[in-house]
Amino acid sequence: MPAQILNGKRIAEQIQQHIRARIDAHVANGHRPPGLAVIMVGNDPASEIYVRNKHLACEKVGIFSQLYQLSPLIPEASLIALIDELNAAPNIDGILVQLPLPAHIDRQNIIESIRPEKDVDGFHPYNLGRLAQQSPLLRPCTPFGIMELLKTTEIDLKGLTATVVGTSNIVGLPMLLELLIAGCTVTACHRLTTNLPLAVQNADLLIVAAGSPELIKGEWVKPGAIIIDVGMNRMDNGQLVGDVEFEQAKSRAAYITPVPGGVGPMTVTALLTNTLYAYKTLHLKTSPIVKMENQ
Ligand code: GUN
Repeated sequence: MPAQILNGKRIAEQIQQHIRARIDAHVANGHRPPGLAVIMVGNDPASEIYVRNKHLACEKVGIFSQLYQLSPLIPEASLIALIDELNAAPNIDGILVQLPLPAHIDRQNIIESIRPEKDVDGFHPYNLGRLAQQSPLLRPCTPFGIMELLKTTEIDLKGLTATVVGTSNIVGLPMLLELLIAGCTVTACHRLTTNLPLAVQNADLLIVAAGSPELIKGEWVKPGAIIIDVGMNRMDNGQLVGDVEFEQAKSRAAYITPVPGGVGPMTVTALLTNTLYAYKTLHLKTSPIVKMENQ
């Protein structure tokens, strides 16, 4: 039997309706709406699409979003000065600096200049450290969104063998931490991994964020596995392709995410969830448990 498709787009829409209702209720009670500042440096075409999607999603749920589109030549000190201003701005709860940044800007300096309570990407060492110590606050959006998507399968993840392909700070590394917290036995694969097919064959749960079109061959997939494909590779013919051979993998797996319409919408929804969380902490002065709004 072919795999069930994990429809991230549909699940994201359901969660966003709950977020909208929460925000409407706060505003009806006389509060200002949550505010998100999105900073983009330069005009990387993929980043422009991501940033537009984030802005549209904010509008849909009632989050005020302010876009800063900055010259690719902006000095690092000027970017940090803007972040300092936003750190202090009373109407802004979340700050997101879209990556990648131009080569003359040190990405780590930028990430660390964001106030941890407003770090809705969850990339600040404080937030990543909280995740590593199994008491997360603001969680990196893609792994957070994937965990919510997995929840909808109602499969108990405890004890599963999970393989993560790709170990970036944005996706792979925090994904490994999320899966450890969930009780999986975790394998990290990267460029220097010598036997990738073996690690894939062992995986009950396979998460691929390598940025390499169809790197994972369908025949490597363990029958009955759950496959999460984070890849978004634009081919010369304009087609979007994931990091997994979709059709071949689908014939072996139990669950698989499509590209597009799988992980992407869940990442955006996790950003909205994080922004609502930051708003509750900073503006409403409550300390909610971080969870998506459909629970
Ligand atoms: N670039 C690619 N993914 C992301 C993300 O999740 N957040 C930011 N800020 N930049 C990205």
